[in-house]
Amino acid sequence: MDTFALPNAPGPRPYPIVGILGNAVRWMHDPIARTGELFARYGNVVSIAKGPIRIANPGPIDAFPALAGAKGAGVVCVNGAELNRQVLTDHERYFMIALTGRLYPPSPTPSDRQRPVTRTMTGLFHVNSREHKKHRRLLMPAFAKTRIDAYRDDMVRIANDVLDAYRPGQTRDVHEDMTEITLRIATATLFGEDEGSRGTRLARRMQEWLSTLMSPGMLFTHDVRPLPYWRFLNLTHEIDRETAAILRDRRKRPEGADMLSMLLSARDEDGSALDEDELVGHAGVIFAAGHETSTNALAWTLLLLSQHPDVMRDLDDELATLGGAAPTVEDLAKMPFLEAVVKESMRLLPPVPLHPRIVAKDSELGGYTLPAGSEVILSIFHMHHDPAVFTEPRRFLPRRWETIKPTVYEYNPFSAGPRMCIGAAFAMMEIKLVLAMVLSRFRLELPRESRVDHRVAITMAPHRGLEMIVRSRGEAPARANGFRGKARTLADWPA
Ligand code: HEM
Repeated sequence: MDTFALPNAPGPRPYPIVGILGNAVRWMHDPIARTGELFARYGNVVSIAKGPIRIANPGPIDAFPALAGAKGAGVVCVNGAELNRQVLTDHERYFMIALTGRLYPPSPTPSDRQRPVTRTMTGLFHVNSREHKKHRRLLMPAFAKTRIDAYRDDMVRIANDVLDAYRPGQTRDVHEDMTEITLRIATATLFGEDEGSRGTRLARRMQEWLSTLMSPGMLFTHDVRPLPYWRFLNLTHEIDRETAAILRDRRKRPEGADMLSMLLSARDEDGSALDEDELVGHAGVIFAAGHETSTNALAWTLLLLSQHPDVMRDLDDELATLGGAAPTVEDLAKMPFLEAVVKESMRLLPPVPLHPRIVAKDSELGGYTLPAGSEVILSIFHMHHDPAVFTEPRRFLPRRWETIKPTVYEYNPFSAGPRMCIGAAFAMMEIKLVLAMVLSRFRLELPRESRVDHRVAITMAPHRGLEMIVRSRGEAPARANGFRGKARTLADWPA
């Protein structure tokens, strides 16, 4: 980095010898804990380090056309409803960038090996301003309530299929099982096929792609084996090829109720359709964004319920009204406690705890300057744990939702403003439905001496799965087995 401009928000100095690399590694090791420490020490607008640093976009920024020439090189974490409002509503100032960050585009004249990077996993994340509005308008009909309600039967069939393999006494990795359910639902509703293996293969590649992208070795963009960049390009090719093949197959079949059908037939006011590159980009992002988040919400909720038998008993009373049947869309609307449990779970353990942005023009936030090119990270996790908004914020208390009504800038697991999650209604239906179906048939108990850790890489997930023992519904344990591990730091758990 030759010349740069730093935000003037307070923060720690670079480490001796290793410099800002030390600050970056410390933050990335546990972003939630480190961001909390920085807020406590420096206030609600804080630099991760007082030095040139980029997280989402760790190199020279000139490759990203809208930010060409930007000198900002600093990462600022932000906490608070009013600051959230300012960032989330000012669409012309706070940009999202493609998940590939500075690698988009990889160079002004990409080689054949690099070319898929310009379209794979770009989608809505990669467009801003008027372009974003246009794409969002084209995508919205695929997420209309009537469309989403129509996916209910697929969701029920797939969840039953997976749950039919459950036997009381078994120990199962419920994170893995929830992944299977949400992946198959995403494949069926997005691509119109329930061919589990194709969706699973694509999702595994996407997970590997994301963890390769986030590895420190990606600072070196040489296409040489065994550097991560070489692996990243291979994975990008595979994802690109597979998504394009799914798209080709979908074009051959008659129009259906799936989202891809909708995207293929979407037309703008001037009659223009999404081109091949845009379709591949949207399909990849919707598929990736649409399953891992829901999986994590389900897994965290099952963990919370296993630790709070009193809440589980109340939920069981509400589930009893279903008489053992899978809920219909109308049933779900009449289950306020189920809704409160899911909302409270996503408050306490938000599946997307940090929302990143890049500052598109020189700005001011909370009294500090942010040069164009700086990064802003909104900490939804810390907003959700603010005692001024949520009393006893670290406790799992679903009943609080009977009396509170926070604003969308105080409680926003799906974000807010023009970029609010387009799949929020889909996700709420899927999570409530699957949860009701699991718990109408079984109880899930944490084995004694369990260890539960979490990892944050855009989403927050239980690290290395979540093993639980299957019990029959009538066999509700009176007392929860506690657990140890890093996830204990995220909330207050019963002793
Ligand atoms: C519990 C489940 C989910 C959570 C917590 C969640 C969370 C979020 C959040 C926080 C954002 C905004 C990120 C930001 O502002 O930085 C977002 C955007 C998005 N989500 Fe979700 N999401 C979930 C499920 C889904 C589903 C099921 C789909 C699709 C079927 C989906 C598709 C998208 C897309 C396409 C965007 C980009 C929107 C835009 O930029 O205009 N999400 N999601």
